[in-house]
Amino acid sequence: MKLTLKIWRQKNAQDKGKMVQYPIDGIDGDMSFLEMLDVLNNQLIEQGDEPVAFDHDCREGICGMCSLFINGEAHGPDRLVTTCQLHMRKFKDGDTIVIEPFRANAFPVVKDLVVDRSAFDRVQHAGGFISINTSGNTQDANAIPIEKVDADAAFDAATCIGCGACVATCKNSSAMLFVSAKVSQFALLPQGQVEATDRVLNMVNQMDEEGFGNCTNTGACEVECPKGISLENIARMNREFMSASLKG
Ligand code: SF4
Ligand code: FES
Repeated sequence: MKLTLKIWRQKNAQDKGKMVQYPIDGIDGDMSFLEMLDVLNNQLIEQGDEPVAFDHDCREGICGMCSLFINGEAHGPDRLVTTCQLHMRKFKDGDTIVIEPFRANAFPVVKDLVVDRSAFDRVQHAGGFISINTSGNTQDANAIPIEKVDADAAFDAATCIGCGACVATCKNSSAMLFVSAKVSQFALLPQGQVEATDRVLNMVNQMDEEGFGNCTNTGACEVECPKGISLENIARMNREFMSASLKG
């Protein structure tokens, strides 16, 4: 395939940045989107040009690092896949592909397509964990019965990889889908009850401090989420937040 790539280039956080056009040839439908960018970068290096900076780590849909906005969609045109799992067969010969970083005030651009998503880490640190007593009298997890429906919903929430596609997609740059997944994975389990009140209050407060917007129930986040995280988690987080606020 021959393609035209229009890529956001930005030297550093202070640079204004601009779209730059690159022709590329010899792209196979079986290549992943990131492999296609590898081909471009080899080409740029051979020409003595600066390669395009982009985030990646696992390249198998687990780490949440690959954060590209492709033709106006987070993680591109496919559904329930990350950018690293997107294949070039989703495009056709002669296509123009526009590639931008995830955009949100809380995700400042570091360089080219790389954004700083440490705001998510700070939300996690505010309460996205449980404390387990390991002093010798710890109860075996398997000895605590949990309804299957709750176990399944907690597991589904725990599949959030923290990629930030929900934020990049939302017109308000809301992080509610991410934060609600992190709250829900514990709210549904007995192990998560000890810190439940503090968890939801602290995580929501941190989310607001980081500058993420609010949720207006558009649902675009759910559509673009590569892990299919459900809006039900936002409803659950709102209930948890309300009841924690009344207790507080
Ligand atoms: S909720 Fe989905 S889109 Fe948002 S960070 Fe988690 S996996 Fe990514
Ligand atoms: S590189 Fe890890 S999810 Fe894409």
